[in-house]
Amino acid sequence: MTDDGDGAIEARLSDREYVRPPAKFVGQANVSDPTVYDRFDEFPDGFEEYAELLDWDEPWDEVFDGSNPPFFEWFTGGKLNVSHNCIDRHLPERKNETALLWEGEDGDTQRISYLDLYREVNEMAAALRSIGVEEDDVVTLHLPMLPALPITMLACARIGAPHSEVFAGFSASALADRIDDAGSNVVVTVDGYYRRGDLLNHKQKADEAIEEADTDVDTLLVWSRHGADHLHEDVSLVEGRDVLVEELLDEHRRERVDPVSRDAEDPLFLMYTSGTTGAPKGCQHRTGGYLAYAAGTSKYVLDIKPEDTYWCAADIGWITGHSYIVYGPLALGTTSVMREGAPDHPHRGIVWEVAEKYDVDVFHTSPTAVRMFMKWGEEIPAEYDFDFRHLTTVGEPIQPEAWWWYHEHIGRGDAVIVDTWWQTETGGHLITNLPALADMKPGSAGKPAPGIQPAIYDDAGEPMDPGTGEAGNLVIERPWPGMLQTVYGDDERFIATYWERFSDTDSDDWTDWTYEAGDGAVQEEDGYFRILGRLDDVMNVAGHRLGTMELESAVAEVDDVAEAAVAARRDEQKGEVPDVYVTVRDGVEEGETVRERIVAAIEAEIGAFARPANVVFVDDLPKTRSGKIMRRLLENISNDDELGNTTTLRDPSVPERIREQVHGD
Ligand code: PRX
Repeated sequence: MTDDGDGAIEARLSDREYVRPPAKFVGQANVSDPTVYDRFDEFPDGFEEYAELLDWDEPWDEVFDGSNPPFFEWFTGGKLNVSHNCIDRHLPERKNETALLWEGEDGDTQRISYLDLYREVNEMAAALRSIGVEEDDVVTLHLPMLPALPITMLACARIGAPHSEVFAGFSASALADRIDDAGSNVVVTVDGYYRRGDLLNHKQKADEAIEEADTDVDTLLVWSRHGADHLHEDVSLVEGRDVLVEELLDEHRRERVDPVSRDAEDPLFLMYTSGTTGAPKGCQHRTGGYLAYAAGTSKYVLDIKPEDTYWCAADIGWITGHSYIVYGPLALGTTSVMREGAPDHPHRGIVWEVAEKYDVDVFHTSPTAVRMFMKWGEEIPAEYDFDFRHLTTVGEPIQPEAWWWYHEHIGRGDAVIVDTWWQTETGGHLITNLPALADMKPGSAGKPAPGIQPAIYDDAGEPMDPGTGEAGNLVIERPWPGMLQTVYGDDERFIATYWERFSDTDSDDWTDWTYEAGDGAVQEEDGYFRILGRLDDVMNVAGHRLGTMELESAVAEVDDVAEAAVAARRDEQKGEVPDVYVTVRDGVEEGETVRERIVAAIEAEIGAFARPANVVFVDDLPKTRSGKIMRRLLENISNDDELGNTTTLRDPSVPERIREQVHGD
């Protein structure tokens, strides 16, 4: 939990624990009728309210089918197309309204109307078909924050080909693993994109990934950042495999592709995420339930209206961008801003400059970003004339201090703030306040979203009473439409990861099945939930999930390394950062060269965003008598916390020696 260690804030918290939403917000909110909670508690029919926000080709026969737990079905029998819902249906009234406002890091901009988006998505859908993409083929995307990304996603959705977007910051190797797991024969990339002023050669990663992958990639579609005639100078095309998207699109100008009517339960996309063990899991999201949930929560929680300009400053390469830059906002017909590049380039005021330029109404970011803005100083946002009515945070707990700063300097004291707890697996927000209906409470994610039934269980699986102040395992007792369908290609892993621990897995009765979130949390007397963080070996680095196992196996690739363990260190800015503890092989000299190799291995296997904060060379790692590495003790050391119990160790003096080495004395 957050420990601000600051008496002043403690005092401020106790007399201002709750913050009322401003009356001017409440007066215009999409949802201000408290009976919404009762309506959604009519399980499962309450969720029809979200599905009714969409256009359906065929109505559903059943809202929820729980007959084969945990493979739950939503809106069974219904048919719809996501691209129709996000584009076509808005045309009669909003064809020349802006769907996407794109800001390039180099100052380039694009204003894409719903009509533009309609044309571009149709042409891209025709282009995908022309190279042989068929319904249900998984297309892997490795695209950064360019319009090409939502256009490609929506084109895939139009023809019923699930997409699997891999965050552009992932390395070639990570991309190769995901191409293989998804079995994609078509990959989509771009020649380059800007990051802090440099035009990066991005295509190279796809080239290397295809080389490394076992799957045959027949076609690599290559978008271009500055047009097909101005490719990045280091990029070359592989004859017979690579196709420039712009050239292909030229062959499909003015073509229209009828949106394929998909079953509500057909998959819409995969999103890979890190877990405790093994390779990243492909969370498979369905068409109907997912879109209904993303649209519904965008309307009810984010308070998005069609006439708004809405900016979620996340990357579409993660679930937040899928649900709350692309699918939710576009399903509601609003204007969604997206920006390429870093928030401090070309200067530290760029975010506020963009917010001012477009008069953004609703702004969405992570606590890591808030802490960074805070560090840069309130003078920066103070220079700009923006006016948000609604602010969101996602991805990590937000400390009260950062919350208050966000409220005061970004919300200027009169915006509502919602802290939204959810996961790649959940498709949309699960714990968060409806902004007009619940008071804000700094540092707390808030109440369950409508229809959601979270609870805290102890390790034995017994529900814990709210208000005791004791932390436990956060679980969700009732299914919801946005939940993942399965782990792609691995139903057993799906059950083992999310259900086994707190469910009666022999039961056919869905009420015996409980979803394990993997987070620790506390429920307070008022029903609000405070999220403490992951209970497993998954860390949260700047809101990005990283598995310690993945990091450790990257480090193990370095020949000099005998053994490695990774521990999460608390970081003021990023929440957590990885510390790597290694022992080297006999005859290897510890030092800078090996350190560089370790960092390089992590960059190569995962990506630069996973770089460790420290590499610590040690003589031995703390191990139990059976040889299991005790990461928790290393975590205690990294964080300068009291060392936990060391008596069960093979050599109890090891942690103390490492502690002295790291902290002196
Ligand atoms: O530990 C929780 C944390 O992020 C994890 C999910 O990460 P990911 O699947 O990458 O999705 C991030 C964006 C939805 C959770 O298990 N987390 C997410 N939101 C919050 C949070 N921790 C505290 N407060 C939140 N609002």
